[in-house]
Order: sequence, then C-alpha cells, then structure tokens
Amino acid sequence: MLAGAACRAEPANHRLYGVPCLIDIASQLCVRAVIRAAVSEGEVRLNLSALMMERFPRWLIERLFTIGHIAECSGWRAFIVGGFVRDLILGKPNLDIDIMVEGDGIALARELSETYGAKLTVYERFFTATLHMPDGRRIDIATCRRERYERPAVLPEVEPASAEEDLLRRDFSINAIAVHITPSRFGDVLDVCRGIPDLQCGLIRILHERSFIDDPTRAFRAVRFEQRFSFKIELQTEHLMRDAIKAGMISLLTRDRIKHEWIRICYEPNPAACIFRMAEFDMLRWIDEALSLDGELKRRVLFNLPEAEGLTRSAGVAYERWLLYLMPLIDGADFESAVSICRRYSLSAKHSQALLSSLSTDKVIQAVSLPMQPSAIKAYLDALPVEVIAYAIAKAIAMGFRRALDSLITYLKNYINARPDVTGSELISAGIPAGPWIGAALREALKAKLDEGCDKTRQLEVALKVAKGIAAVVSRGAKIGEEGRNTRSRKRDKIAPDHREYTKSDD
Ligand code: CTP
Repeated sequence: MLAGAACRAEPANHRLYGVPCLIDIASQLCVRAVIRAAVSEGEVRLNLSALMMERFPRWLIERLFTIGHIAECSGWRAFIVGGFVRDLILGKPNLDIDIMVEGDGIALARELSETYGAKLTVYERFFTATLHMPDGRRIDIATCRRERYERPAVLPEVEPASAEEDLLRRDFSINAIAVHITPSRFGDVLDVCRGIPDLQCGLIRILHERSFIDDPTRAFRAVRFEQRFSFKIELQTEHLMRDAIKAGMISLLTRDRIKHEWIRICYEPNPAACIFRMAEFDMLRWIDEALSLDGELKRRVLFNLPEAEGLTRSAGVAYERWLLYLMPLIDGADFESAVSICRRYSLSAKHSQALLSSLSTDKVIQAVSLPMQPSAIKAYLDALPVEVIAYAIAKAIAMGFRRALDSLITYLKNYINARPDVTGSELISAGIPAGPWIGAALREALKAKLDEGCDKTRQLEVALKVAKGIAAVVSRGAKIGEEGRNTRSRKRDKIAPDHREYTKSDD
C-alpha cells in the first residue's frame, strides 16, 4: 500500500475543498477513528450504526439487517462497501446498495432472491450477482475477491479472498471502506486502506503502485471523484497517474470502456471541470488524437456549456450531454478526423450526424446573426440536432455574438415548440377534405402566427385559403389526369379489337 494514510491537509483546507458537511460529520468520526488507530496501531474500530440509523430510511436498515442476518447464519461476514459507504459518510444520498460477503456471495444472493421475490442476475466469472427487487431497486452482491491482471488494462481474473484483501484491490482509499452488517457487528467499520482519514482530508489516493496500469479507467475515475467532491488527487497518486497516462495506458483500454468512462464524466454535476482536469493530465488525446482543448476560445465555450444546457433544458428538449461535451473538443478538427471518431466509437447514425454537423457551428452562428423572419429561423434551426443548437449558444456567448445569441435563445424559448392555434380537425370540420394539404395549411397558419402575430381567427382564414387552394389545384390535376386516362383507354379499345382479330387470323 502507498504511504499516506495520514492527513496531508490541515482541517482548515476543507473549506477550500467545499465540503462543508464533511467537517461536521467526518471531523467527529475521523478524529476519533484516527486517535483509536494511533493507540492500537491496528485496525480502525469505529461504529457507524448511529449514522446509518439517522441517514438511512427504515426499510433500508431492515433490508441490511436481514442480509447480514442470513449471511451470519451461514457463518459469513457481510459488509456494505464502496461508493455507498463513502456517500453515507459524506452525507450524500446514494441508494446503490453494494454488499460484499466473505463467503459465497452468489449463494447469498440466491437465498435473498427467494426471501424478497427478487429477480436475480448472476455473473459467475466475477463471483457477483444483482438482485432486482420488486420495488424497482437493485442490490449488488459480491463475494470478497482478489484480482490478478494478466496484462495492463484488461479485465482481471478473480478468486475468492478475505474482506481485507478485497478492499486492497480497489481503486481509491475513499471507495475501500467497508461497514459490517451482520447483527453481531452491525455498523463496525473496516478501513484497512485508511479511507476515512482521506475522506476527512479530501484526498483521492490509490492503494498500490500498479493501480493505473492494471486499470487505466481509474484515471477517469480519479478526475471524476476529485471534481465531484472538490477533493484533490494525492501527490504520489498524481505522479503515478501521469506516468501511466504518458506511457499510453489509456489507449490499451477497449473503446467501449473508454466511451463508458466518457459518458460517466459527462453526467457528473460539473463535466466541464472534469474535462479541464483531463486536459491538464493530457488525457484527451488518448481518447482520440482529434480531441483537444487548445486555445482560449475552446475553454471559454466549454465554460459556457452549462448555461447553454440550462436554456435547452428549460425548453423541455432532450439532448445527449456526452455528445454536447465532445463538440468543443473536436471543433476545428477536419471532417475526416471527426468521421474517424464516429467510426472508432461506433456512434449511431443520428449521433454521428449531430457530431459532424457541429463542425459547421460557425456557419449557423453567422446565419442566425442576419435579420430573419421568425418562421425562417424556426425552419432553419428545426433541421439541426438540438446539441448543435446548445453548442452554438455556448459558442455565441464565448465569442460575444449578441445577435446570434438572441436568435438562438428566442428560438429555444418561443419557436422550438411553437404550434399553430388551429388544428387539422378544425380544418376538416370547416369542410376541407383530409389530405396532405392540411399539413401545408397548418404550416402557413404557424407562419402567420410567428411572423405577423395573427390571432386564431386570422390563422384559420390563412389555413383555409391555403388548404382550399392546394385542394383545388390537386383536384384539377386529378381531373386532367382522369381525362388523359380515359382518352388513352379509348385509344386502346380502338386498337384492341384489331389486335384480337389479328391474333385470331394468326391462329
Ligand atoms: N471499483 C474499483 N475499480 C474500478 C471500478 C470500481 O475498485 N475501476 C470499486 C470501488 O470500490 C467502487 C466500487 O467498485 O466504489 C463500485 O464501483 P462503481 O459503482 O463504478 O463506483 P462508485 O464508487 O459507486 O461510483 P459512483 O458514485 O460514480 O457510482
């Protein structure tokens, strides 16, 4: 294990890290823990049952108790562990229950699935199982295990081990705290990696020197947790992370794993902060060489994305955050490089089209800077993926293009969901036969509404006029067509008897 169990920051620094609740909770918990550890020079003995009672709902306590009881009946130790425990101590809501069992996790999961009537998914290779509870929640249960990595960046071979060993194989000390749930020791903490002092100090610390080589996804995870909790990656951890990145470890990961980590980064509360940090660690080029955060403008755009997201969200439009946050990074790349990212990461046709059209955001900004009728703005922007519109907003803010920004914001606020006040059935009730002219008439009604501010009566007049006009043209066309068909069939009738006779005589 790396040295560094002791706190490296003064308690006063916690306020800099912005984790106010940490001081309240952890200072009481951790200080006691550290003092006891110092006295016994061994295992940190601390009991969190009071905190669990306070923070967990009753049904959760009961569930943990039942699981612990069933495990204890088989003579096994059972714990809650990982992010679930970390967030309990930090006072953050988290109901992703992670259980580890020093025994047979899959057998325990099978028994629990009967007790609760839960659906069970088993992953034999990893000695883990997931319970899908009838109330829609899930519980992950794992047998305590050690890991062996055949090669860097591949999934490990695992074998059953003690709870202590299981904690030592994990990513960071703050994710390697376990709490007993067996009734005889309910709430007792097992913190062999000294995660609680690191939580108190706000440190992200790996547990052994090969951690980033064995599993380079941990570089993404380090940045993610650091930014999520306003913690700091511990110094030696930072050195080892930089070495692993420099040695190209990220490029050894499968594309699916990289994509998965990218998506997780983008769904953090502050993805921009994570991306800035990834750029500092020179991680972006290992995701793809076309990605970069070079230049002041890109940074400003990234910084403005949350504002653009807020506007998009308030228009009630769904968008893909992971796609949006790629856009500033590929801005300025050539078309072929962008196509190659889409292929490399197997993006769907829809997502590829969105990413590729973001390369033309400057043209969009220019176009909407010009005076345009509202209906023309709507028609133009309706044809673009919503992520490109959000990206154009962030870029227009960064470039100080007020006119373009006003048009884009007005579009999101007033036009994107705009509908005419008249409906197709009203047109049909007014005597218009059903047909494609209804759609065209409604479009004209909307145009009258947006461009001239027409009220419903006037919109109906406009729509009826258009619908009748098109219907008349179409029915005139149909009549002409019918006459043409009749003339042709008369001609055929004339020819046909001769032809029949000709055939007959031929016989
Ligand atoms: N873990 C690990 N190494 C990884 C991924 C996960 O050691 N590369 C361990 C950590 O102990 C982690 C636990 O598995 O806490 C569960 O992983 P995951 O659900 O991905 O992480 P959480 O810590 O729960 O993170 P989040 O809050 O983002 O869900």
